Amino acid sequence: MDIKFIQFQSHGDERGSLVSLEDNKNIPFTIRRVYYLFNTQEKTRRGFHAHKKLKQLAVVLKGSCRFMLDDGKEKIELLLDNPEQGLYIESFVWREMYNFSEDCVLMVLADSFYDEKDYVRDYNQFIEMVNE
Ligand code: TYD
Repeated sequence: MDIKFIQFQSHGDERGSLVSLEDNKNIPFTIRRVYYLFNTQEKTRRGFHAHKKLKQLAVVLKGSCRFMLDDGKEKIELLLDNPEQGLYIESFVWREMYNFSEDCVLMVLADSFYDEKDYVRDYNQFIEMVNE
């Protein structure tokens, strides 16, 4: 599976760092939704779904967490701990997130509004769909 990390330009100086995210410039889609996860319990594992159409970009703004991405053929585990990097997650990729640090703030940019019908929450159904 091709894992795409997008490296953002950081405008850092002695005052600190600044990253700017722009539609269809450093973000490869039009941003329709932003959500973020915080106060996630360290032992929590969440996600457990894929999307039929949705494309997303995950950025850990603070702390760290791990991602497991699965395209139905291969599973890859990744550590996200750099606010200057975004993990691009295409449709039909099963994802699970875990090992959240106490201070983890995980921001996700999405190319569509929230739509439960776009979710595949059953792993066996996901495997059937990718093999179709
Ligand atoms: P859920 O999909 O279970 O989160 P995760 O896949 O990260 O474990 O979402 C948790 C709740 O939040 C669920 O009731 C749906 C709701 N939700 C929204 O209302 N809007 C959103 O953009 C998202 C991502 C979730």
